[in-house]
Amino acid sequence: MFCMPIIFIFQLIFFSELKQSYAEDFNLFGEAGQAYSIEISIGHPGQKLNVIVDTGSATLAIASYQRPDNDKYFHLKNSTSIYDSGQEIQAQYSQGTWVGKLVSDYVHFPSMPNVTEVRCDIALITKSHKFFMNGSGWQGLLGLAYLPVGAWGDNVIVGSWLDSMDHMLNKPMSFELKLCSVLGITNATHYGNLKILDDQISNKSFMFRTPVLRKRWFVVGVLSVHVMSDTMSSVASKLKTGNNATYTNITQSQSIYEINEGLCQRLNEQKSIVDSGTTNIRLPDDIFRQVVNELRNAAQTSNVLILDEFWYHGEAACWPEPQRWSLPRLAIHLLDFDAENQYFTLELPPQNYMRVVSARNNSGTGGSVSEFCYKLGLEAGGKETVLGYTVMEGLQVVFNRSAGWIGWRTSNCGPNATISGPYNTSSSLLVRCQLIEPLSDAAISIKAAQWTLFVISMVALGVLVYLLTPCIKMLIMKPLPRSQQISLSQAALVEQEGT
Ligand SMILES: *[C@@H]1O[C@H](CO)[C@@H](O)[C@H](O)[C@H]1NC(C)=O
Ligand SMILES: *[C@@H]1O[C@H](CO)[C@@H](O)[C@H](O)[C@H]1NC(C)=O
Ligand SMILES: *[C@@H]1O[C@H](CO)[C@@H](O)[C@H](O)[C@H]1NC(C)=O
Ligand SMILES: *[C@@H]1O[C@H](CO)[C@@H](O)[C@H](O)[C@H]1NC(C)=O
Ligand SMILES: *[C@@H]1O[C@H](CO)[C@@H](O)[C@H](O)[C@H]1NC(C)=O
Ligand SMILES: *[C@@H]1O[C@H](CO)[C@@H](O)[C@H](O)[C@H]1NC(C)=O
Ligand SMILES: *[C@@H]1O[C@H](CO)[C@@H](O)[C@H](O)[C@H]1NC(C)=O
Repeated sequence: MFCMPIIFIFQLIFFSELKQSYAEDFNLFGEAGQAYSIEISIGHPGQKLNVIVDTGSATLAIASYQRPDNDKYFHLKNSTSIYDSGQEIQAQYSQGTWVGKLVSDYVHFPSMPNVTEVRCDIALITKSHKFFMNGSGWQGLLGLAYLPVGAWGDNVIVGSWLDSMDHMLNKPMSFELKLCSVLGITNATHYGNLKILDDQISNKSFMFRTPVLRKRWFVVGVLSVHVMSDTMSSVASKLKTGNNATYTNITQSQSIYEINEGLCQRLNEQKSIVDSGTTNIRLPDDIFRQVVNELRNAAQTSNVLILDEFWYHGEAACWPEPQRWSLPRLAIHLLDFDAENQYFTLELPPQNYMRVVSARNNSGTGGSVSEFCYKLGLEAGGKETVLGYTVMEGLQVVFNRSAGWIGWRTSNCGPNATISGPYNTSSSLLVRCQLIEPLSDAAISIKAAQWTLFVISMVALGVLVYLLTPCIKMLIMKPLPRSQQISLSQAALVEQEGT
């Protein structure tokens, strides 16, 4: 395995840039490198399992066979309430496939006692390929997207859990994801909260809303992804107000980022989706390169020298101490729900995109070294744009399924992500970015649509491969006072090690 050498010449500062969160009830958690999962109880008597909360698919799918690396799975024979349809179904994700059978049973969530127990379709996975990862702390997926992205089979439509609930309660329900990332710098386990919201109990608090352009995945209009300059980010950072949504009062004099048509058309050429089952921000190849080049240059400017394997090839970079990044914010412009010539901006600090993948404090225990490893929260993804959970950390995100919008506001936990806007542009962004490419949804049967969708590229689970055996041979120079400027050539003298 290739090992990534790291050169490190930056003052070490012990310091957490994470917001404190008090007395928080978390019902989502994820091991380092894995997506957020929730405990689910299936059948009577209830069997408790963990499932990834996935806005990139629509099926509740659970392991129902013993795997060599995980002895937890759903025991079909133990449930007295199960209904077995006998029908075979399958699904293909961007990574991994499974086959299984369609059953229905009762489902509830122990951490959400107010959410009614419902009977719903479940895909019991009987065989899989590259779907479960060795050591993963979860046994299935809870798909929260719209029906056309469910699993498929011959003349079978697998209903989603949320649809079953809407149906039973006879009213639409929305949900909110509040992802908090890690709670401290010395433990890479991350936490969050899933809430089911009743649409009829309307919430008056302000949110920036982006329309769901197509109700399959959560397809949204991503107008730009770029690295912010200091002047650009200063406005919103100053106005950051903790718990409440930040509404930046933009005056005309403040320059407004002009949307680049070429860029926004490429970002949405295939589709742009919001997918909690994916870890990273996945961008079309050329845009990925451009954004990462800028980040790398910014890092060099602030004397953080990290090798290209980290930036371009998804390798982990490790240090003996937790890092405080002096890197710019990443801006993501999203189309505004209220007017088609408006957009707003998610501003993500480095704590979002420099993801902690392992944290081990061994000081004091003698012998072994401490190590704190990071991976870049961006990856190249062909023609697609996927806003993985890296984008949601530090924010509260409401998925209003029936009204077709996703609402964003700041949160009291996680990285210090902010939102600014809305910004006006001179003409319709729908038109300029070609966001309304006609897709004859109605013309194709659901089954055909599912087939095509799955074959093209089913989303989710960029998650899985985040695997942690980072090669950790890093070398450290003595910390230098910050004022002391070092040239890169000097830095290059630092010895490297590899395996
Ligand atoms: C399933 O039922 C058997 C026999 O009733 C019991 O021994 C076993 O512990 C049960 N397994 C689970 C996962 O509930
Ligand atoms: C799974 O991981 C464990 C420990 O991390 C290791 O001992 C085992 O060999 C792995 N199994 C497979 C099939 O890779
Ligand atoms: C991180 O925290 C979790 C839960 O508090 C704990 O189970 C785990 O062992 C911790 N990991 C490390 C590396 O300390
Ligand atoms: C979803 O949108 C509908 C229509 O605008 C609104 O009535 C409802 O309150 C919204 N739900 C949530 C949870 O905000
Ligand atoms: C925005 O700024 C203008 C001029 O400074 C001020 O009059 C107005 O009240 C502000 N609006 C908000 C919502 O803060
Ligand atoms: C690591 O552990 C040592 C001893 O337990 C402690 O003094 C030190 O503050 C810890 N470092 C961090 C970054 O938490
Ligand atoms: C921005 O556009 C909205 C909707 O088109 C309009 O109501 C508003 O007055 C515009 N604001 C500015 C500052 O131009």
